[in-house]
Amino acid sequence: MRVVIEANVQRVGEVAAEILAAQVRRDPRSVLGLATGGTPCGCYRELIAIHRRDGLDFSQVRTFNLDEYWGISPDHPQSYHTFMRAELFQYLNLCPANCHLPRGDASDSIAESERYERGIRDAGGIDIQLLGLGRNGHIGFNEPGSSLASRTRVKHLARQTIDDNARFFGAPELVPRSAITMGVQTILDARHCLLLATGISKAGAIAAAVEGPVTAAIPASALQLHPQVTVIVDEDAAAELRNREYYLLAEQGRRESSEYESPQH
Ligand code: PGA
Repeated sequence: MRVVIEANVQRVGEVAAEILAAQVRRDPRSVLGLATGGTPCGCYRELIAIHRRDGLDFSQVRTFNLDEYWGISPDHPQSYHTFMRAELFQYLNLCPANCHLPRGDASDSIAESERYERGIRDAGGIDIQLLGLGRNGHIGFNEPGSSLASRTRVKHLARQTIDDNARFFGAPELVPRSAITMGVQTILDARHCLLLATGISKAGAIAAAVEGPVTAAIPASALQLHPQVTVIVDEDAAAELRNREYYLLAEQGRRESSEYESPQH
C-alpha cells in the first residue's frame, strides 16, 4: 500500500484528483469507479477545475459508482444519482450514457446486481476505484461482516451508517435501511484502488484498514490484499497510524526517485 499523508483536506482532494486526471490523460477511454459522501467532494471540485483549466476531456470516459440507496428512484433528491449530477457530472463533458450507478428502484435486486456487474465487465473493468471510508471500516456499503468475496448485492445499513448519513436526509428515520452496493471483491477487481479519508473521526478506521488484520469486521482491510492501493489521508485521519514515519519516508523516497510513478505498492 502507498500511504500518502497530506497536510489538510484540500490537499487530499488535489492529490486524488491529480491521480484520476493522470489516468484520463493516459487513456481517454478510462473506466473510473466513483464514490459519494462528503470525502470525495474536494476531489470532484479539483477535477472540475482541471477540466476547466486544462480542457481535460471526459467525453469517452466511463464511470461506475459504488452504490445507491435501495428503494429510491434516481430522481429522488437524496439519491446518489442526484448527488453525482450535482457534485460532478453536470460540470464535466461526460456522456450521460457512460455514467452508471446501480438502480435503487429496480424490481429485482438480484437481476439488477447481475446487470451492474455485467456492465463493469463489459466496459473492461475499472481502472481506478475511488473509495471513502466509513467510521466502521466500510467501503461502499459493505458493512462489517460483509464477505470479502462479495459482489454487488443489497446490504442492510449499519446503525452507525444510518446515523452518519442522517445529515443528508434531515433525520435518521428518513435514511433508507438498505443499499445496493458493489461487493468487496467487485472493488478488489479494480486495477487501482484510491482510498481517501479525512478528519479525526476516521483515524481509528484508517489504522484498522491499513495496519490491522485483514478481516471482514473491517471490510476496508481487504485492500491489503490488492497490489495497487493508494491511501490518501490528512493529518487528522493519520493520527492513529503506527507506521506514520515510514510512510512519510517512503513518500519522500518516491519523490526523489524515478519510482514516483511506479504502479506497484
Ligand atoms: P463520508 O462517508 O465521506 O461522508 O464520510 C464515507 C463512507 O461512508 O464511505
